[in-house]
Amino acid sequence: MAEYDVIVIGGGPGGYVCAIRCAQLGLKTACVEGRGSLGGTCLNVGCIPSKALLHATEMLHEAQNNFATLGIDAGAVSVDWKRMLGHKEKVVEANTRGIEYLFRKNGVEWIQGWGQLSGPGRVRVGEELIAGRNIVVATGSEPATLRGVQIDEERIVSSTGALELTAIPERLAVIGAGVIGLELGSVYRRLGSEVTVIEYLDHVTPGMDGELQRGLKRALEKQGLKFVMGAAVSGATAGESGVALNWTARKDGAEGGMEADVVLVATGRRPFTAGLGAESAGLTLTDRGFIRSSHGRTDVPGIWAIGDVTEGPMLAHKAEDEGIAVAETIAGQKGHVNYDVIPSVIYTAPEVAAVGRTEAELKEAGRAYKAGKFQFMANGRAKASLATDGFVKLIADAGTDRLLGAHIMGPAAGELIEEICVAMEFGAAAEDVARTCHAHPTYSEAVREAALACGDGPIHS
Ligand code: NAI
Repeated sequence: MAEYDVIVIGGGPGGYVCAIRCAQLGLKTACVEGRGSLGGTCLNVGCIPSKALLHATEMLHEAQNNFATLGIDAGAVSVDWKRMLGHKEKVVEANTRGIEYLFRKNGVEWIQGWGQLSGPGRVRVGEELIAGRNIVVATGSEPATLRGVQIDEERIVSSTGALELTAIPERLAVIGAGVIGLELGSVYRRLGSEVTVIEYLDHVTPGMDGELQRGLKRALEKQGLKFVMGAAVSGATAGESGVALNWTARKDGAEGGMEADVVLVATGRRPFTAGLGAESAGLTLTDRGFIRSSHGRTDVPGIWAIGDVTEGPMLAHKAEDEGIAVAETIAGQKGHVNYDVIPSVIYTAPEVAAVGRTEAELKEAGRAYKAGKFQFMANGRAKASLATDGFVKLIADAGTDRLLGAHIMGPAAGELIEEICVAMEFGAAAEDVARTCHAHPTYSEAVREAALACGDGPIHS
């Protein structure tokens, strides 16, 4: 029987990063992955392919809407959907192959197959039994299902099916105004689909700052997305002319409905533990199916769990950080994840990014804070690139000025947020950011101005 220091089950961002870090720290490591390629949901059917389509359609949007203003006459632009999907496939392949290369470079063994916990320190992969002093479960998540809505990945699709539709639908209905619904809804709206988003709550992107929620919804409405808010979808039936969708208004129980060519179900994801043998191995599952763990440690010594299969935000970078921390802990170091500084990004246009506390959370906790805000409308670089929609809002402690959070909507928001993540890791005050020289002309000047707005006030507004 092959023996390892660490067996990682799952080759997504949590698992593959953990495996590489283990190997770098001198541990004999195997990664068990059943999919034909490494990278998990993120690289194969999630973050990476969706970003390829978001980028391509953003270029289309620019060509159709901004080129003329910029003095570029490109003629009529058109879409070759097959080629656009081809671009997406190439990007996915390059990324997943890249992980194979990194495994070879670091000496991680990829065992292809589905892993099952089979007694203390044992994992079964098909007919083979392997032994590991440590086992890291990184099996990720899968799309949640909705009662009355049967996903067939053709006309009623999850995010996976939405990334490979054979044709651009004329009418797309999206159930759920979360990250997936808004990103993929944007993609198809830019491609010309009539997109209607049906959301149970009264706001989009639950958990985000209220001003971001309202600003993003307004921006997407301007792009032509339609929203039905406060409506719980209760059923979808595929028929001759399309899919009939029914919903019930949350407040007064009024019935509503529409017909669409394709329905995207984007109502969240759930932990994936099918076939793992989690409970017979002694692991505790929460009532929502997550593996109970604390800083990667499960209830069973020697078995660790990281990423989407555990509680917390379902984000690739959170999984990666947990993978590194667990690898370091196994190697005898002091692995640690700072859960207060995990950014989240929505790759719509304008982009949205956030880290740390929201105003609503601080109000509820009764903590005194100040909010400094700056609009991209007053940022020179944003004006030059016709990207003035949005703002930077920084939140700082009212007494100490220490940064507690940042909420950004605008150009490159996902890149700008990192400055605040680093600042927060170092316990910086808003004044520290305000006193740091920011290159001109950059979007990052809006971050500095928001920091100034936490103090005596910005220069440019
Ligand atoms: P989500 O939890 O972000 O949003 C789901 C939405 O569906 C919620 O607003 C909810 O109120 C609504 N909903 C639920 N049941 C409904 C019903 N019956 N009728 C109408 N609305 C209903 O989930 P989403 O967008 O599916 O994303 C899943 C996970 O993947 C999230 O944890 C997200 O963070 C992650 N993800 C992250 C990305 C990023 O970081 N850019 C990109 C894509 C996914």
